[in-house]
Amino acid sequence: MTVWTTRPETADDVAAVRAVNLAAFPTAEEADLVDALRADTGAWLDGLSMIALDPGGTVAGHALLTRCHVGGAPALALAPTAVLPSVQRTGAGSAVIRAVLDAARARGEHLVVVLGHADYYPRFGFSRASRFGIRAPFEAPDEALMALALDDTRPVPGGTIAYAAAFGV
Ligand SMILES: CC(C)(COP(=O)(O)OP(=O)(O)OC[C@H]1O[C@@H](n2cnc3c(N)ncnc32)[C@H](O)[C@@H]1OP(=O)(O)O)[C@@H](O)C(=O)NCCC(=O)NCCS
Repeated sequence: MTVWTTRPETADDVAAVRAVNLAAFPTAEEADLVDALRADTGAWLDGLSMIALDPGGTVAGHALLTRCHVGGAPALALAPTAVLPSVQRTGAGSAVIRAVLDAARARGEHLVVVLGHADYYPRFGFSRASRFGIRAPFEAPDEALMALALDDTRPVPGGTIAYAAAFGV
C-alpha cells in the first residue's frame, strides 16, 4: 500500500499540478481552470491547493478548494480533484481530499460544495446539496451536487452557488 504525503502546493509545484490535471482528464479544460483560478485573487486561497506525493516525491494527486458563495455567504468549491491515471484507486485522491478539507476546517471555513461522482464524495461526509437547499446555477443531477458542513455548530446557508468567474458558469 502506498503511503501518500500531502501538503499545500508551492510555486515550485505549479507545473506538476498542471501535469496531474492534464493526465487525469481527457482535455486541458481542468488544467486551464486551475491556472485561471490561481490568477483570480478573489477565488484563490493560499494553502487550499493540496497535493499528494508518493514516497519518491512525485506529485501524483491534486485537490483544489476555491472561494464561491452560497446564497451570498462565503463557501468553498472543491474542483477539480485529479490523480495520475497510473496510480488511481490507490488512495492518493482520498488522502489529498481529506487533507484539503482538514486545511479548510482549520482556517475556520464552514461549507464546501462539489459537483462530482455521487459514489465517491459521500465517504468524505458529503451529502446531497438539495437537502440544505443549495442549488447549482445550471442544470445538474440532484445526486451529483453535494455539500459538506465543516462546522456542525453553524447553520448551513442555502441558495444558489455563485462560482468564481473562471468556472464560466
Ligand atoms: C476521482 C479521483 C480523483 C479519485 O482518486 P483516486 O486516488 O483514484 O481514489 P482513491 O484511491 O482515493 O479512492 C478509490 C475509491 O474511489 C472510487 N472511485 C475512484 N474513481 C471513481 C469514480 N470516477 N467514480 C466513483 N468512484 C470512484 C473507487 O471505486 C474506490 O472505491 P473503494 O475504495 O470503495 O474501492 C481519480 O480517480 C481521478 O483523478 N479520476 C479522473 C478525474 C476525475 O474524474 N476527477 C473527479 C472529478 S469529480
